[in-house]
Amino acid sequence: MRRKMAAGNWKMNGSTAALSELTALGDAHSDPKCELLICPPATLITAARNTAAKQIAIGGQDCHEAPSGAHTGDISADMLVDAGASYVILGHSERREDHNEGDSDVRQKARTALEAGLKVVICLGESLEERESNNTLDIIGGQLAGSIPDQVTGENLVVAYEPIWAIGTGKVPTLDQIGEVHDFIRARLERRFGAGIGRSTRILYGGSVKPTNAADIFAVSNVDGALVGGASLKAADFSAIITALEDA
Ligand code: PGA
Repeated sequence: MRRKMAAGNWKMNGSTAALSELTALGDAHSDPKCELLICPPATLITAARNTAAKQIAIGGQDCHEAPSGAHTGDISADMLVDAGASYVILGHSERREDHNEGDSDVRQKARTALEAGLKVVICLGESLEERESNNTLDIIGGQLAGSIPDQVTGENLVVAYEPIWAIGTGKVPTLDQIGEVHDFIRARLERRFGAGIGRSTRILYGGSVKPTNAADIFAVSNVDGALVGGASLKAADFSAIITALEDA
């Protein structure tokens, strides 16, 4: 029912030379059994859209909450669309931390992005301290309620569960811990939006997904794919993750 998704977040990495990775990815997955998304830095979106095969969607990593205006250095949702993006990642923990973004900011950005016709990947995740004090589900529930706007459908929303302590660290929660949070997010989506939207929304896991752990993570209930940082930069690594998802 839900189309699985492998999403790559290049973060602040990659210059024009990195576009060859996109070409290699398209060649390796000409007819993928899952949806493929790459979110390069904003400077590369247009070139990525022009380079990548059509089965690879291109996304932004953030957008401003206002549709336009005097916001030096920022990028609007309409600009992302104009540049060739069809998705945008919002509420990544690095944005929440580096730019002090709260749930209400993420929610407003998501509204603006949806109005521009983008699909949104909204990130949720607990800190190590919150995990160790047994507050994970409270934190995730609060972020879900605060960050996801009412206007979503099962098609234009993807939720990414990304424990902050697992991002870029090589640490991964146990499969039971991942399953617990994904089941909880599914239940909360169904409670808030009803069974239709709740069951058709993809829930991705993110945080140190690698070729070596991907198959185990993809076997967990309610894991519909992955949001991958470091291992999405090289086509060979990301390709192995895609294959694990296709085989799951
Ligand atoms: P990582 O990043 O795969 O490098 O841990 C994941 C993310 O931040 O989306």
